[in-house]
Amino acid sequence: MAKRPTRLRRTKAVRQLVKENHLHMDQIIYPIFLVEGNGIKEEISSMKDQFHYSIDLLLEDIPMFIEKGIGKLLLFANITHKSKDGSSGSDETGLVQECIRQIKYNFPQMLVIADVCLCQYKDDGHCCIYKKNSEIDRLATLEVLSDIALSYAKAGADIVAPSDMMDGRVKDIRKKLDNNGFEHVSIMAYSAKYASSYYGPFREAAHSAPSFGDRKSYQMDPANSLEALREIELDIKEGADIVMIKPAMLYLDIIHLAKEHVQVPIAAYQVSGEYAMIRSAVDQGQINSRGIYESLISIKRSGASIIISYFAKEIQEIILKEEPL
Ligand code: PBG
Ligand code: ZN
Repeated sequence: MAKRPTRLRRTKAVRQLVKENHLHMDQIIYPIFLVEGNGIKEEISSMKDQFHYSIDLLLEDIPMFIEKGIGKLLLFANITHKSKDGSSGSDETGLVQECIRQIKYNFPQMLVIADVCLCQYKDDGHCCIYKKNSEIDRLATLEVLSDIALSYAKAGADIVAPSDMMDGRVKDIRKKLDNNGFEHVSIMAYSAKYASSYYGPFREAAHSAPSFGDRKSYQMDPANSLEALREIELDIKEGADIVMIKPAMLYLDIIHLAKEHVQVPIAAYQVSGEYAMIRSAVDQGQINSRGIYESLISIKRSGASIIISYFAKEIQEIILKEEPL
């Protein structure tokens, strides 16, 4: 009669039978760093096994991604000539736009998501435009953001993903897309994006560190959780199809809270610092490689269905190894 929870852990078969959460490659997104030029595939020093790709060599690696079960890419640009207001981001012949077109032409089944922000295009590395009095020029920022989103949609992006955290951007982007015949393009909003130290390796990779100040006046305070719900609810009201929480592992409580309150799909971004931390611990033998699986399944368990992760190339193998237990 006694309750014996270990009964359900006795054999592989019974453990499979009662497993509550699974990883699936269908819901994994792989972030990509694009650079201008040709013949470039260079490892990013702050992110082992992640690369700066020129479009040609990215296209060469996509069959390998597909073999590894990756069917969704999230594109970031690394532009050398930045402008004052970031408006070069909507150049229809720009790096991201060209890359989207080429991926879609060569691999039409690949889902292409493009990150929408100004930091990659602005010379000061900020995600917004500032007024002379150093307040955020929200309306000017929204205009540039919407233009960038539209140019990505025109190039063939399936989803645009605004990561700037400006109030009202989902609404403006949705309107701009709809008014131009892109009702079918989805918005995955970085809704609860925290001002995190864990973006460090990414900023090195994207050369997008702000040249003055920080992002605390637009990204969220790590101490807050109810505010995340307000951000998420606003984005849904404004038309977000998918909401994202970022970083992931240090914010599992936020993912869980969101899961209890909203009905749209929830994505979580296991960011560059989270990747770098686990990667180096595994490489140095401090934790074994099963630690990667644990990090990913914890994100799933907390309530995110979609995971954005730099481990993407390894996950299929990890699933094969770990899910049978
Ligand atoms: C820029 C952006 C950042 C990331 C995604 N988009 C960095 C930042 O806000 O400074 C972080 C991704 C990562 O760390 O993996 N808007
Ligand atoms: Zn940004």
